Amino acid sequence: MWLLSLLTLAALHLRSGSEVAGHLNVFLNPVEVMRLLGVSAEVYYVREGHINNYALNFIVPVPANVKDISFTWQSLAGRGLPYSINVVSSDQEVLPRPAINVSHSGEIPTSIQTWAIALKCSGLKAAEVDVTVSLEVVLNRSLNNVTHLVFRRKKICLVSDSAEGWTEEDVDDPQLLETVMLPPTGLITLVVGVSVAMGSVCLLLMIAYCVKGAANKRQHHQHGGQPMRTSSFQRLNTHPPCQSSMGSAAYMTPSIIAPIHGSSLPRKVPVSVEQQHPEELHRRISELTVERCRVRLSSLLQEGTFGRVYRGTYNDNQDVLVKTVAQHASQMQVLLLLQEGMLLYGASHPGILSVLGVSIEDHTTPFVLYPALNNTRNLKLFLLDPACARTVTTIQIVMMASQLSMALDHLHSHGVVHKDIATRNCVIDDQLRVKLSDSSLSRDLFPSDYNCLGDSENRPVKWMSLEALQHKQFSEASDSWAFGVLMWELCTSAKQPYAEVDPFEMEHYLKDGYRLAQPFNCPDELFTIMAYCWALLPGERPTFAQLQSCLSEFYSQITRYV
Ligand SMILES: *[C@@H]1O[C@H](CO)[C@@H](O)[C@H](O)[C@H]1NC(C)=O
Ligand SMILES: *[C@@H]1O[C@H](CO)[C@@H](O)[C@H](O)[C@H]1NC(C)=O
Ligand SMILES: *[C@@H]1O[C@H](CO)[C@@H](O)[C@H](O)[C@H]1NC(C)=O
Repeated sequence: MWLLSLLTLAALHLRSGSEVAGHLNVFLNPVEVMRLLGVSAEVYYVREGHINNYALNFIVPVPANVKDISFTWQSLAGRGLPYSINVVSSDQEVLPRPAINVSHSGEIPTSIQTWAIALKCSGLKAAEVDVTVSLEVVLNRSLNNVTHLVFRRKKICLVSDSAEGWTEEDVDDPQLLETVMLPPTGLITLVVGVSVAMGSVCLLLMIAYCVKGAANKRQHHQHGGQPMRTSSFQRLNTHPPCQSSMGSAAYMTPSIIAPIHGSSLPRKVPVSVEQQHPEELHRRISELTVERCRVRLSSLLQEGTFGRVYRGTYNDNQDVLVKTVAQHASQMQVLLLLQEGMLLYGASHPGILSVLGVSIEDHTTPFVLYPALNNTRNLKLFLLDPACARTVTTIQIVMMASQLSMALDHLHSHGVVHKDIATRNCVIDDQLRVKLSDSSLSRDLFPSDYNCLGDSENRPVKWMSLEALQHKQFSEASDSWAFGVLMWELCTSAKQPYAEVDPFEMEHYLKDGYRLAQPFNCPDELFTIMAYCWALLPGERPTFAQLQSCLSEFYSQITRYV
């Protein structure tokens, strides 16, 4: 029990954000959060004077059917706190000046007050409009100390009022949500709740992760729609590289990477937890349950809006990584962590980081434990650290890619499609051994790697193959595509792929044959392997067994002379 309090304390201490010399709460009440994000929670922007910058930086999408947004506040200073509010719409034609139902300046009352901003679309045009709410609060008049808070919303406007009638009746059903949100009386309730509501609620929850490249979009449009001339990607020949004029044709013989001509062959259907009976998740969790008191957290490695990754020990003798969620996380976020954390359950392969244990003693902050020998840490963060990345050689990159391709070959041979292969979902240790991990918490910890494309689902767009983008078709072949992007990340110290390309235009560009450009210092042979992963037709991409032999061939080639 004391350990739990320790965690709570740590979470409090490490909570990001600055402090204001004042006593103030500004938050979204549960009704508002449910309406916007589909989860039952309060979201605090300012809690007892602590400003939550993560929450403030998060642009909350406002669905077309939600016509006003609300905020709740309370002065805890024992007196009213003077404020002024300004609301700006980025497109007055689509969303005329929004009206609010408190005065633009006044005093924040000492009682809890909720106020609202009406967002009435003109109906003349369909667009996403940025709504910026600026709030200034005078916390201490004698110091003339003014705190500025900026809340951002993205309102989706449709063409006419009748068109706004698309309500997700079944998703919004409060009863359905309530059954999920109720404190679980036991694991079964919890798990049944997931299976009933996951399909619909999950979509809504994804909104919570949605941080869209709106700024990107604007910048990109300023380039006059000619981003294909930028350096980050190029038009590639999508024919197999062995037929192209790449230098080492001998190496790229079809016998090494042969296109799979059996694109019509049925690919194995992956069996993931969400498609299985709820009992399966239950069984996996109970099999893996460890006692919370055996887990000791030592340091916080990563922190998102609700997700946390700690280093720690299990049983005082085993180093572990611990994924958990903050106290304010919603029940759904907790469930997603558990569910996604189980993806690689039971996969025993040296290249796979599979879950070691779970603790759900405290339903609000579950622990998911992973073994972490030799200073294991996140691969993307490792690559982004100049001190680490500088030392990585081509040979090491090829070794890493090779280890990961073996792991994926193993997964695929067991019928599991990963669906989110990227450096952010891998770990690396001191000896540069890499392992593939699940994607739990990644949407929260790496928000800029995920985008929403008009719907409420948040996807790793820049890592997705064309058929995955267009038709949500995930297969071994879409994993190969993402693996190509991962190899590109390895060569670029985890640069953002297609940084200049608007996520909304990815589909179009890929269809036109544009791909990531060859990174500086990346040998032709290695780039040829990557590019081969990006063949338009799934059947023409290499399998992981083929990638594996390809990479080892290249490895022996480059090490021959070393
Ligand atoms: C206002 O409050 C902040 C946060 O406590 C503090 O750092 C700053 O010095 C204050 N400004 C003035 C003018 O006192
Ligand atoms: C403003 O409108 C919202 C939503 O209609 C309502 O809940 C709230 O009580 C109103 N606040 C005030 C101060 O009138
Ligand atoms: C405002 O700041 C002054 C100077 O630090 C302090 O003495 C006073 O108590 C503060 N007032 C409030 C209401 O916090």
